[in-house]
Amino acid sequence: MSDLSTSYLGLQLKNPVIIASSTLVQNLQGVKEAEASGAGAVVLRSLFEELIREKEEKSGQVYSGHPEEYEYIMSELNLQYGAKDYLELIRDLKSTVKIPIIASLNCTSPKLWIDYAKRIEGAGADALELNLSLMPTDPGFSSLDIEQQFLSIIKTARENIRLPLAVKIGPYFTSLSRFANQICGSGVSALVLFNRFYQFDIDLDKAEIKGANWYSTPSEMSLSLRWISVLYKNVNCQLCATTGIHDSDGVIKQILAGATAVEVCSTVYLNGFSVVKKILTEVDQWMEKKGYAGLDDFRGQLSLRQCKDPELYERLQYIKALSGIDKGN
Ligand SMILES: Cc1cc2nc3c(=O)[nH]c(=O)nc-3n(C[C@H](O)[C@H](O)[C@H](O)COP(=O)(O)O)c2cc1C
Repeated sequence: MSDLSTSYLGLQLKNPVIIASSTLVQNLQGVKEAEASGAGAVVLRSLFEELIREKEEKSGQVYSGHPEEYEYIMSELNLQYGAKDYLELIRDLKSTVKIPIIASLNCTSPKLWIDYAKRIEGAGADALELNLSLMPTDPGFSSLDIEQQFLSIIKTARENIRLPLAVKIGPYFTSLSRFANQICGSGVSALVLFNRFYQFDIDLDKAEIKGANWYSTPSEMSLSLRWISVLYKNVNCQLCATTGIHDSDGVIKQILAGATAVEVCSTVYLNGFSVVKKILTEVDQWMEKKGYAGLDDFRGQLSLRQCKDPELYERLQYIKALSGIDKGN
């Protein structure tokens, strides 16, 4: 048996496969199943999304994503409402399961959630993942404004809580290398790449907007694979991969690119928690075949950093890809 253990966010994980924030891990039962499947840790479902959804259900009002509206909804809420359950869940989990519990907050404004963050820390969570997502529909809001807003949320979190922090972002940034460096230079322990947002579609019969493609496919992994490879050892924090990791190949590739850990979600919805055990068994078999005793033996081996001539590497990838298409590969 190879050693799959890894240190992530200062926590000792028995393996790098984390169940991503979702309804899979929104209650005691889900987290117990996650633990029984062999997962290394869980990220609980994000708190604020849940609160907003409850509020929507009660009021019939649909949250559009606008920050001011968010503030309005949040200020209407009793700050204890709903969050109390979340804190109780964390306390129950800490006395019931052994795997690390990473709480998750979906934040767009630093003002309202910081109190929750402190309570989450008090409830005993092992770490906190900030789920930073914003739909930039406002043309008056520049890319720099968005980045500044995210950095200000991170700064507020870092100043107010001691928990190890992970920051989960989407892929839509113009200069991701620079922004990732700014995030990682703000006292953040890990960057989670990339969140997958609800997909947008239109129901033609009802002439209504609807969600689509709830679950990812393995082909969606290449975006995070590329960026984990680019950012490995080029940012001052750990990297965790998410989106499109469905099997052991996905996990191994992300570690070769430089990931410390990976978060899986869609594959568990599609195949059940048993897929985690299958993934771990196959990663172990691959490591044995290659003669790797631990993950550090191959982590980052295929990152951009390990390449002697990064410029040539980037160009060659492009040329190779094009000539591959010409040859019909
Ligand atoms: C039903 C569902 C609920 C989710 N809820 C959350 C959430 O509350 N917070 C969050 O940060 N991500 C949430 N996600 C995103 C996942 O954590 C994950 O990042 C994304 O699904 C990509 O991973 P995958 O390709 O393995 O599914 C959710 C995903 C799904 C499918």
